[in-house]
Amino acid sequence: MSSDEEVAASRPYFIGKKENIIQTRRVLKSVGGRDVLVMYHQGDFYAIDSRCYHSGGPLQEGDIEDFDGRPCIVCPWHKYKITLDEGEGLYQAVDPSVKPLKPTWCSKGIKQRIHTVTESNGDVFLTLNDSPGAIDSDYYQTEKYRDTILKE
Ligand code: FES
Repeated sequence: MSSDEEVAASRPYFIGKKENIIQTRRVLKSVGGRDVLVMYHQGDFYAIDSRCYHSGGPLQEGDIEDFDGRPCIVCPWHKYKITLDEGEGLYQAVDPSVKPLKPTWCSKGIKQRIHTVTESNGDVFLTLNDSPGAIDSDYYQTEKYRDTILKE
């Protein structure tokens, strides 16, 4: 994390009024140098880095669907599935030794950095996740990446 992000990570940021976010379902905010997507889905709030860990796709344009009983955002670029609660990358695999072939859901582990959403008196706040160690989506939050896409 950059120093801006480290300072930003320690405190909650006001994102909006709860009723407004419930109505719009999604809010995209830049907080402490990160672009974060805050979502309301089936009674819960979620916050996740807005650029997909695979190749920087805009998750704010992705559909939310359940896979293996877990709500996921589906990246609009290559259809990667990312769990809203943990940021895990999910995929389907088939064991060729088991007949009939039956795909099962598997996890690639945590690939997308998720953040914490809290509510207080009708206001919604975001606290950045400053856990140490790189998560794949971190790369797409850097100035280096932003410079690259602006030149394209
Ligand atoms: Fe998201 Fe490829 S950029 S799936």
